[in-house]
Amino acid sequence: MMNSSTSLPEEGASGGAKPGSYYSYGIPYLPIDGYPGRIIAIEGTDGVGRSTQIRLLREWLEVQGYGVVETGWTRSELMQPTIDLAKSSNTLNKLTFVLLYATDFADRLEKEIIPALKAGFIVLSDRYIYTAMARAGVRGIDRPWVRNLYGFAIAPHLVFYLKIDDRTLIRRVLQARGMDYWESGMDLKLGDDIYESFRAYQRALLREYASMADEFRFRTLDARRKVDVLQDELRRQIGAFLTDSDTSAAGTKPE
Ligand SMILES: Nc1ncnc2c1ncn2[C@@H]1O[C@H](COP(=O)(O)OP(=O)(O)OP(=O)(O)O)[C@@H](O)[C@H]1O
Ligand SMILES: [Mg+2]
Repeated sequence: MMNSSTSLPEEGASGGAKPGSYYSYGIPYLPIDGYPGRIIAIEGTDGVGRSTQIRLLREWLEVQGYGVVETGWTRSELMQPTIDLAKSSNTLNKLTFVLLYATDFADRLEKEIIPALKAGFIVLSDRYIYTAMARAGVRGIDRPWVRNLYGFAIAPHLVFYLKIDDRTLIRRVLQARGMDYWESGMDLKLGDDIYESFRAYQRALLREYASMADEFRFRTLDARRKVDVLQDELRRQIGAFLTDSDTSAAGTKPE
């Protein structure tokens, strides 16, 4: 079922890759075949509720004896200060923007994700390459070009997409913390009004995520539901997946 790579129109990252393998050219000096760990990515737009779900998933997995590693966007030691600086100075070109994110991901891939996979951990990824693709897409960057760029990424075992509509998102973000310059796409100069800009930008992002759902086999969840309802659904699906992979392979569960 996973071996449909021959029918793909493009090189680079696409859903045709086998979970746990590189999307295409990979990292040439780092073979990863047969690593026992698993990557579970939670995707979704700004403020949708990813971190809340990941925190609860981590607790649940650890109680069952799984080793869990969390990784999140722009959290690499190497790139976080640079990305923060570039954002605050507000002088990012589109290409630099895309490459900074790719470098952040590359750094975390090599230093966090691959070692964790090798050691049999479950990697909970708060966003994955699809957020980078969505953000590049709304900035008019050629989609096949970005997919090709991320050919060094590893296809996750599961990708959950927390889907929301713009009205519910706006309510959630305003209640939680307000709108941020970058989350509002203010760099795109969609207008001076942060509310209008947030709405237009987030709608465009939601369209980008939606367009990737089939290609990358997202398991789409309705993120408008309550925290515990969503968590139950995630646990049910992840539990079923882990039971399957524990019985069919060496497994990731420590003795
Ligand atoms: N299912 C939900 N229903 C209502 N509110 C929620 C839900 N999930 C999360 N929230 C609230 O929305 C806010 C954002 O949640 P959270 O920080 O988990 O989102 P995030 O996707 O990680 O955001 P960010 O993009 O800022 O990292 C928090 O105040 C959280 O309590
Ligand atoms: Mg978060």
